[in-house]
Amino acid sequence: VGGLIGAVIGLPAIAYLLDPAFKAGAKEGWVTVGKLGDMQIGVPYPFSFTRTQVNGWERTSTTHGGFVIRKSDNPQDLIVLNSRCTHLGCTINWKTEAQAFVCPCHDAKFSRDGVVLGGPPPRPLDRYTQFRVDDVGVVEIFYKES
Ligand code: FES
Repeated sequence: VGGLIGAVIGLPAIAYLLDPAFKAGAKEGWVTVGKLGDMQIGVPYPFSFTRTQVNGWERTSTTHGGFVIRKSDNPQDLIVLNSRCTHLGCTINWKTEAQAFVCPCHDAKFSRDGVVLGGPPPRPLDRYTQFRVDDVGVVEIFYKES
């Protein structure tokens, strides 16, 4: 019985001490964002994914998002934009009628390539620069926690 109680109390404590080692593996990785066949050339394709951070006993889930823009028939000719506005972090949306990404918070506008067209953002939209497309057209981006 004493050993069982020790294991019940001790294992979480050991896990807590090893926690940084476990977290290191979860801070980055490949994330599937869609299939190339579903992405039309020139039309931003939205995606989102959730990452869970573990800090001791606390778990925090954060949703991230972005848009894949196919530039041509070449499967590698992609731009992957982060949907977080570079002003104060609101989520941008693609507006077909304006042919621009629009931020609902302070009316910023970005081009299809993420360049600032108007409003207060200090820089273009961030990009996921590492991505890959496999043999069957599955698109993945490399996410790294910052
Ligand atoms: Fe997007 Fe301010 S947060 S314009």
